[in-house]
Amino acid sequence: QTLRECTLEALARYIKDGRAQKIVVMTGAGISTSAGIPDFRSPETGLYANLARLNLPYPEAVFDIDFFKKNPEPFYALAQELYPGKFRPTITHSFLYLLHQKGLLLKLFTQNIDCLEREAGVPGDKIIEAHGSFAKQGCVECKKPYPQERMRDAIEKKWVPYCLDLSCNGLVKPGIVFFGEQLPAEFFENNSLPAQADLCIVMGTSLQVHPFASLPQMCERETPRLLINSEKVGDMGGRPDDVLVLEDCDSGVRKLAEACGWLEELEALWAT
Ligand code: OAD
Repeated sequence: QTLRECTLEALARYIKDGRAQKIVVMTGAGISTSAGIPDFRSPETGLYANLARLNLPYPEAVFDIDFFKKNPEPFYALAQELYPGKFRPTITHSFLYLLHQKGLLLKLFTQNIDCLEREAGVPGDKIIEAHGSFAKQGCVECKKPYPQERMRDAIEKKWVPYCLDLSCNGLVKPGIVFFGEQLPAEFFENNSLPAQADLCIVMGTSLQVHPFASLPQMCERETPRLLINSEKVGDMGGRPDDVLVLEDCDSGVRKLAEACGWLEELEALWAT
């Protein structure tokens, strides 16, 4: 065993002793719920539980590429709610920035499309946006890029955008990854990094969507893994050096920061 016991205190000691120099973090929608953005799968508050008005055959269809090609309206009816820019990063996002400032963040893999990691200060080259982002958009047929301004207008006014090349006239879609689509190349270029990590932190994800969900398993068996999440997910807890903090991300992060002696610094970072 790498940690003497599977507690947050033992993990904090491991960090304070300088044994965690290359931390890989994997995040999902649960780190942004306290910012006011719903997650996907929480039973009552999650996005998938609240899509009845869209008359979908099943909730995930709204992000399914084959469904979208036949029926893009439900996605564009919803897109406004997903579009980044309206929310403030949480203290959990600031914690990610703190790890970066301390030179400890090897890579942050996020499934989120809210851009709050960047807004909290984490530089773009430290972030793998595994499920893409709204930064780019293009035609699903000819792949021609589509102007950002027009996309913003389409999303705001809930109209469906089509390729500006009239000989194509394919549907236009933001660069967020749908079910049935390939993840960005940078995900596959970096998905071996967890094997180099000396600490893995998983936060706010149900670990239900592959290939992202298998990232924590890419860590070496003797690498401590920390889960901060309201429920136990994936295979977290199944290894000797797994530490589970089954609670709200923000309070779990505060506890970890406190145990590391970083709490004041973190609160100050978040307040600015
Ligand atoms: P989910 O909604 O599947 O999971 C969120 C997890 O965070 C759940 O385990 C919640 O219990 C937990 N959670 C929610 N709020 C929390 C909080 N404040 N503190 C601690 N835990 C909290 O979201 P993701 O795992 O991100 O992909 O979903 C993965 C992918 O499925 C998304 O990227 C999206 C979705 O379909 C695509 O659309 C391709």
